[in-house]
Amino acid sequence: MTQTGSQGMGRMLVMELARVTEAAAVAASHLIGQGDEKAADQAAVDAMRTALNDLDIQGRVVIGEGERDEAPMLYIGEEVGTGNGPAIDIALDPLEGTTITAKAMPNSLAVVAFAEKGNFLYSPDVYMDKIAVGGGLPEGVIDLDKSPAENAQAIADAKGVPVNRITACVLDRPRHADIIASLREVGVRVKLIGDGDVAGVIDTTNPDTGVDMYIGQGGAPEGVLAAAALRCIGGQMQARLVFRNDDEKGRATRIGIEDLDRKYDLMDLASGDVMFAATGVTQGSMLNGIRRNADGSVETHTIVMRSSSGTVREISARHTDESKF
Ligand code: FBP
Repeated sequence: MTQTGSQGMGRMLVMELARVTEAAAVAASHLIGQGDEKAADQAAVDAMRTALNDLDIQGRVVIGEGERDEAPMLYIGEEVGTGNGPAIDIALDPLEGTTITAKAMPNSLAVVAFAEKGNFLYSPDVYMDKIAVGGGLPEGVIDLDKSPAENAQAIADAKGVPVNRITACVLDRPRHADIIASLREVGVRVKLIGDGDVAGVIDTTNPDTGVDMYIGQGGAPEGVLAAAALRCIGGQMQARLVFRNDDEKGRATRIGIEDLDRKYDLMDLASGDVMFAATGVTQGSMLNGIRRNADGSVETHTIVMRSSSGTVREISARHTDESKF
C-alpha cells in the first residue's frame, strides 16, 4: 500500500508507479511476437488496473484506453485506487506499441503518469500534431506554426551546428510525406519509426539517441504522456488536436474543450507536480525489454521521474515470482 504525504502526491508514490508499469510490461511480455495486438494490450490493461487499484489514491483515469463504451477497462473517467489518499488524475497507456509487441519489434513500453487533479489536458482519443525538443535550448525555439525546415534550422542555430547535423524523429506514415520532404530538402536526417511516439519524444532528451527533434502527428493520449515525461526530464513541446470529423469534434467539446484549434504548450498539456513511469516491454533505445531467466525470474527496466524534484531514476529489478505483482 502506498504512503502519501499530507498534501498532494507523496514522494513514495513515485516508487509505486514503477510497480504499476512493471506489472503491465511483464504481463504483456508473454504476448511478444505472438501476432495478437489485442491480447497483448488486454494483458497489460488487466495487470495495470490491478496494480493501480492497490494504491492508496483517489485516482481517476483522464487519459486512458478510450471512452467507457469502447474500453471495458481503464476507460476515461474510471476511478481506480483504494479511495484513500490524494485525488490524482492518471494518464496511462498500458501498452504503448501494441503492434511493436505483437511483431517483437523494438521500443514498446508500459507507461503511466500521475498529476494532481486537473493538471493534465483532458483530451479525447484523437490525433495530435506534435513538435518536441529536449532540454537546454532557448525557450520558444520550436513553433508548431513554422515549417518543419524552419524549426530544424532554429534548433541547429541554437545548437551551433549546420542543419544537416540535425536528426528529426518522425512516425513512418504516408500522412507525413510533406514533413519528411520539407526536412530532407534542407538536409535534415529523418529517423523514421514504425510506432511508439512517446519514446520518440523522449529520445530528444537523450543525446545517446542522436535525435534532436520530434515532429508529426500521433495519438493525443500519447502526446499528453510524452509531455508528462518532458515536464520531469526537461524539454519543450507544442501540440494541437486534429479532428477528422464531427464525431471527434463532439467528443472534444463534450469534455470541455472550447477552442478546437488551440496550440498547446508543454504546461498546457501537463502542469503542476507530475510523475511519470515507463517499463520496457521489448528492447528499446531508452529501456531494456523484459528478460526471462532460466531460473524463472523476470528482469524489468523502468524509468521513473518527478517534475517537482527533477529526479530521474532508472530501476533494474529482478522478480523471482511474477505472480506476486
Ligand atoms: P498503440 O500502442 O495504440 O498501437 O499506439 C502506437 C502509436 O504508434 C503511438 O505511439 C502513436 O501516437 C500512434 O500509434 C500513431 O497512430 P497511427 O498508428 O494511427 O498512425
